[in-house]
Amino acid sequence: MKQTLVIQLKMPLDERQLDLPAELLKEGKTVAFPTETVYGLGANALDAHAIDGIFKAKGRPSDNPLIVHISDVDMLKVLILEKQPYVDDLMRAFWPGPMTFIFRKKDTIDACVSGGLDTVGVRMPKHPVALSLIRKAGLPIAAPSANISGKPSPTQAKYVLEDLMGRVDCILEGEDCEVGLESTVLDVTGETPIILRPGAIGAEDIIGVVGACDVDPATLNHDHGEDILARSPGMKYKHYAPDAEVTVFIGDIAKMLQQMTAAIKRAELQNECIGLMIFEEDALILEKMLEGVNKDSYRLCTQGSIKHLETFAKQLFKDLRALDAHGCKRILIHGVEKDKYAHAIMNRLYKASEGRLIHC
Ligand code: TXA
Ligand code: MG
Repeated sequence: MKQTLVIQLKMPLDERQLDLPAELLKEGKTVAFPTETVYGLGANALDAHAIDGIFKAKGRPSDNPLIVHISDVDMLKVLILEKQPYVDDLMRAFWPGPMTFIFRKKDTIDACVSGGLDTVGVRMPKHPVALSLIRKAGLPIAAPSANISGKPSPTQAKYVLEDLMGRVDCILEGEDCEVGLESTVLDVTGETPIILRPGAIGAEDIIGVVGACDVDPATLNHDHGEDILARSPGMKYKHYAPDAEVTVFIGDIAKMLQQMTAAIKRAELQNECIGLMIFEEDALILEKMLEGVNKDSYRLCTQGSIKHLETFAKQLFKDLRALDAHGCKRILIHGVEKDKYAHAIMNRLYKASEGRLIHC
């Protein structure tokens, strides 16, 4: 067990609160901090011993590479070899922000950071705490999501404490994360950028800047071949999974609500509780369908409006964790299609549900 220093950040941010955590990073320690996507667990990207601390704390497989976070484009010089001409436009458009670029790496980046690949992922976060912490440490900071490997990424400080207390040197307790899904991972080593992990910045946003963007087929469904796995090692691990069994429904909403109602009625007979993640448009209809059913047999987490999927993205991981904590053994989710956020959300839902997708 480690002694974990917990610092509650005051808002508006008093940057002096980051002096000590920045010193800890310089000493090779591990510090969890908020970013605009999810909380990250940081350590000096140029110190293999510090990186080992991240892998141990998370129980992370060693072939899953880490993203290196920077506060200034000048920091790129020590990390990467050449960059494609179009990347400057992408950096101007999306940095700082929820976008990770995959470059060919320099030898300064140890194989333990890159998972043995010859590339490295780099992101400049937008969150003022993350940016200021990296600037104060004066170092590139490797930071995966601040969860135990395999669990949903933490979008609230309380889940970082739950997973990493006693495992890391310091936790910065800030506000809830604004985006709620991890950054878009974009391979920019070739002539056309390729999305390896979908996020809030989608293919159409990238096409809007550089005119072209490919999407790794592995991001579109759950079953993917070994060749695809080799490109983005993180894709092969069971990610984002709560303890409960997750089922995702897409298609006809009336049929979906009927199936959900039937499942809840079965759960009522067995004294179980079903977790539900549906949109506010449907919540009232479902509650009407459930009139007379014992309220202990379901727990409803409303995902805002289906017209504004930002709310769903922001709440997804925290609601999966909350429904687990409530003791739900099954979680039923209204999946999404044909929206800017749908690719990123469904990518997480495929993994959380291990492919349990029902077309209604
Ligand atoms: O939003 C985020 O990206 C958060 C915050 C903390 O910045 N970080 C994050 O890190 O999600 P992590 O380690 O949980 O996810 C990193 C993903 C993994 O799927 C990994 O396989 C992929 O990025 N990745 C990292 N380096 C890569 C590389 N060189 N080539 C291909 N994929 C890479
Ligand atoms: Mg992660």
